[in-house]
Amino acid sequence: MLRPRIVSVMFVSGSKGGVGKSTLVANLAMLFDVDVAVVDLGVDGNMSVSMLHGVSSDCPGFLDHVLLGIEARVERSKYAGNVYIVPPGRVRGFRASILSLANKDVIKSRIDRFISWLCDQGFQVALFDTPANAELLSLLYVSLLYTCDIINIVVEPSPLCLETVQAWWDSFSRTISRTSQIVNLIVNKYMKSMNGSLSYLCKYTINGTVHKIPFDSYTLVLSNRCELAVRYREAEKFNKALQSLYKALAHQISSYLGISRQSIRKGRR
Ligand SMILES: Nc1ncnc2c1ncn2[C@@H]1O[C@H](COP(=O)(O)OP(=O)(O)O)[C@@H](O)[C@H]1O
Ligand SMILES: [Mg+2]
Repeated sequence: MLRPRIVSVMFVSGSKGGVGKSTLVANLAMLFDVDVAVVDLGVDGNMSVSMLHGVSSDCPGFLDHVLLGIEARVERSKYAGNVYIVPPGRVRGFRASILSLANKDVIKSRIDRFISWLCDQGFQVALFDTPANAELLSLLYVSLLYTCDIINIVVEPSPLCLETVQAWWDSFSRTISRTSQIVNLIVNKYMKSMNGSLSYLCKYTINGTVHKIPFDSYTLVLSNRCELAVRYREAEKFNKALQSLYKALAHQISSYLGISRQSIRKGRR
């Protein structure tokens, strides 16, 4: 297998918003000891990654770049020296979906070029936070799924969410290469009372694993105040589980890069 020089990690949830993608991505980025680019594809639920990192989303961003060819801005997080945010940009909603269809021949190459550009900037890891209903971005969404090395499906453990993940799986699992990509499943806001084995969720993974992140009321309060939970000891339950998710992802990323986890060094910036 050809080794990439940068690993792209995507977080998706199908049509159900508010499952905690942005909260997970924003906090997870803080745990890396290398420079991480976090690409924010839009706002849903309560907050965006840009907001959680104190970065304005009112500037040219990823969607402007891919759909209109405008250069995206990369802003350093207010709270972590190693986290850089690419805001969504100004093209949103229906217009983004129309542009995605109109520019279908160039989108894939613009995504590839964007990721190579991040790599040239010294990033080894790019995290993509997608909004709920990202399917509306049609071809852009499919191209990202096709391009990203690791895809994390985030669900809440409710029956409705299982229907959502099944619908996502039916629509998109064929886009994913079983030989070169990884799909993990993350059950966020897990509660002990939900009991039972989650092993049946393995069927929604490809070369990957199932992770549980507990429901944590401190995380809920902190995120709603636009604070990053990893910065607060009170959110211990969430932070502990996030550490173990980080370890698993760091292991997958190092395997892609063909290096040991310890040798993911700070990028040259
Ligand atoms: N593990 C968790 N425990 C408790 N609340 C959480 C957890 N993860 C996320 N939340 C809360 O869920 C809500 C939606 O989160 P958000 O990250 O905006 O979801 P999404 O990006 O998937 O729409 C927020 O209020 C956030 O604080
Ligand atoms: Mg979100």
